[in-house]
Amino acid sequence: MKIAIINGPNLNLLGKRETGIYGDSSFEAFFDRLRKKYPEVSFHYFQSNVEGELVNEIQRAGFEYDGIILNPAAYTHTSVAIGDAIAAIKAPVVEVHISNVHAREDFRKFSHVSAKAAGSIFGLGLKGYELALQYLISKES
Ligand code: DQA
Repeated sequence: MKIAIINGPNLNLLGKRETGIYGDSSFEAFFDRLRKKYPEVSFHYFQSNVEGELVNEIQRAGFEYDGIILNPAAYTHTSVAIGDAIAAIKAPVVEVHISNVHAREDFRKFSHVSAKAAGSIFGLGLKGYELALQYLISKES
């Protein structure tokens, strides 16, 4: 099974960035653990701070992978283009947010992604990525 994880802007700073909200693990350390725990899954990881690069990657992965785990970060709340890209592709997308976006500022409560995604997970920390993965695995079998 082929799964793509796509992270948006500033998620390259996980572990250093607002650790009270996002925790002190880097994504790379978490991803290493995830890969070891699910050796049967072929993972692809992509992170960008650039909206158009995220659209390109969603389009590419969307016809090549069995599922996409997507945290578009701040673009969640602003990007019509990312919402449209999710609607355009074949692969199911699970939207993940590390923090509970509904318990924060009002502008984080709106998502261009949720209505196009298979489902959304928020507020469960990095564990949300693993739960999204388990959903995609269970869907395939
Ligand atoms: C985030 C929530 C967004 O509102 C924020 O802009 C992020 C990270 C999260 O994972 O909790 O950068 O997507």
